[in-house]
Amino acid sequence: MNDTFLKACRGEKVDYTPVWIMRQAGRYMKEYQEVRSRVDFLTLCKTPELAAKVTLQPVDILGVDAAILFSDILIAVEAMGMHLEFSDKKGPILGEPARTKAAVDKLVIPDTEDSMPFVLETIKILRRELADKVPLIGFSGAPFTLATYIIEGGSSRNFSHTKRMMYQNPGLFNALLEKITATVIGYLSAQIRAGAQVVQIFDSWAGILAPYDYEKVIFPHVKTAIKALKKLDVPVIYFANDCPGLLEIVKKSGADVIGIDWRVDMAHAVKRLGKKVVIQGNLDPCVLFGTKEYIEERVQEILGKAHTAHGHIFNLGHGILPETPVESAIAMVEAVHKYGRN
Ligand code: CP3
Repeated sequence: MNDTFLKACRGEKVDYTPVWIMRQAGRYMKEYQEVRSRVDFLTLCKTPELAAKVTLQPVDILGVDAAILFSDILIAVEAMGMHLEFSDKKGPILGEPARTKAAVDKLVIPDTEDSMPFVLETIKILRRELADKVPLIGFSGAPFTLATYIIEGGSSRNFSHTKRMMYQNPGLFNALLEKITATVIGYLSAQIRAGAQVVQIFDSWAGILAPYDYEKVIFPHVKTAIKALKKLDVPVIYFANDCPGLLEIVKKSGADVIGIDWRVDMAHAVKRLGKKVVIQGNLDPCVLFGTKEYIEERVQEILGKAHTAHGHIFNLGHGILPETPVESAIAMVEAVHKYGRN
């Protein structure tokens, strides 16, 4: 197996900089669209053979150094007892947002084996299929990011319901975060037992908060989750989106790898995150709309600036966009492999 990615996660010396892409399986790929034309998104997530198939597509087509389980962060929210639908136009819709004590009390901490067995089955298939290829990443949403979906009932523009609960009813808000944190720990532990070799926690909405609130209210739960997972002895990646105001805080998360978005210069991130964590990132996904020459230029820029970091895993600064040309994703992967560290 190509273990460059695993070594990089542990901060060990590698022959080249490994690369994978957040949301690397998805609509920008015609092979994914072909599968998706036959089943809806949730059915795809819940059918292990199909979820495994689309997980493998980018590994074979792009030549990335890691596979990421095909699923969605909201699968665990459904298992907590909320109704989940995906609409092609509006994205995820969760029935009956939980904004009261009664609604929060009704949410359960799910048992992964009972309520999400398809995720564990997908992981088992993937470990067999990936045996001589690349490592498998499992994932979950972070407590706060999942809380926003639970409280807003879907995606949001200004997160006013979430922030209102945080400021008006901090006790209830914290009780909700505790319940989600227990869910995240149970869910990722089960993924690791099933065979996930690394786990990533996606905190897609961390950056909507003032650093003061993030550190006091949210971050303790991130640390609790990471501390529990570290006992299982696999590397943990914490990706905080829109993180430029949070780097001095997230460096204390206990994660082996910190994923960063593109809004911070890699050279500054290296200085601010220090010498103990490996950094993952951080090309703006829209650079993939540029020419091959420009993609190469920006890959070299980031690799050069990350050179003095404790370790570097190349990635986009957030998920790849559905309109991205596949050739551009391939060009990026090739450029990382050509110009990366040794
Ligand atoms: O990285 C991968 O390849 C694994 C697959 C993956 C998906 N979602 C598949 C998906 C992962 C890791 C996620 C995580 C996820 N889901 C996040 C965190 C990462 C991030 O981007 O910030 C979030 C916030 C979600 C919630 C979600 N799922 C939204 C808001 C949407 C609708 C918007 C959109 O991109 O369509 C989804 C749907 C979704 N998740 C799709 C895929 C491939 C598109 C579904 C389709 O095929 O129509």
